[in-house]
Amino acid sequence: MKVIKTIAEARAERGELGTLALVPTMGALHRGHMSLIEIARRSAPRTAVSIFVNPTQFGARDDFGKYPRPLSSDLEKCAAAGVDLVFAPDDAEMYPGEMMETIVDFPSLTTVLEGKHRPGHFRGVCQVVAKLFNILEPDFACFGQKDFQQLRVLQAMVEMLNWNIEILACPTIREPDGLAMSSRNQYLTPPERERAVAISKALFSAQEMVKGGVKQASRLSTAVQHQLLAKHFQIDYIASVDPITLKPVEIMTGPTVIAVAARLGSTRLIDNVVVEPGND
Ligand code: PAF
Repeated sequence: MKVIKTIAEARAERGELGTLALVPTMGALHRGHMSLIEIARRSAPRTAVSIFVNPTQFGARDDFGKYPRPLSSDLEKCAAAGVDLVFAPDDAEMYPGEMMETIVDFPSLTTVLEGKHRPGHFRGVCQVVAKLFNILEPDFACFGQKDFQQLRVLQAMVEMLNWNIEILACPTIREPDGLAMSSRNQYLTPPERERAVAISKALFSAQEMVKGGVKQASRLSTAVQHQLLAKHFQIDYIASVDPITLKPVEIMTGPTVIAVAARLGSTRLIDNVVVEPGND
């Protein structure tokens, strides 16, 4: 496995690699990332992983400073998983001099949900992923469905800017009790970790309500809200949205994403499920 730190080295290596699947990450790799790497390896003969904690997607109140950066154990995991190339640049390599001002934005997709609570977040995500796509020129790129809005924004970016890259949507990987895997789960204290499972439980019970015939999004939100408030979450949003436009859905007629963002102490967790109402 080659570990490279500069854009020049990445360009030099790229020619040798042929068809390539990229897994962009911010490191602190967990089983969720490892499943993205597995999907990448099944999709293309060569796999690259980028590890870069991107400053431009963090807001002033976010956790950029304390975001975990266990590079050597990340590299061991990548090597064991059969990754061919790791691109791990530093901030100065990605953003020399002044922070770059070039932005890609899709306000109808980026100012709602996470974008409303983390203004500028998706501009930073699009900026860094656009740079990674131009540096590594992958044929495939893998993103997790846990960050379903990120996935949708990046699909739109690739479509609108005509990149010849196939975005692979990869299923959310969960802990045995249902908590969606996230590098931020390690911030939870043991009692918070116990309460955190309420998010996935509430979403799964909303899924059951839809199976049972409920189609009004407001009924689902109320049920989810009760369960989260009972565990003393501070709720940022509970939303039912169209998976393509991210517009709110009132009565479900087709696939709908139920998305939650909520805080336990200083840790912010997000999760979602896709539901599909039956015909009756
Ligand atoms: O999902 C993430 O870890 C990041 O947002 C990404 C896509 C690697 C961009 O920094």
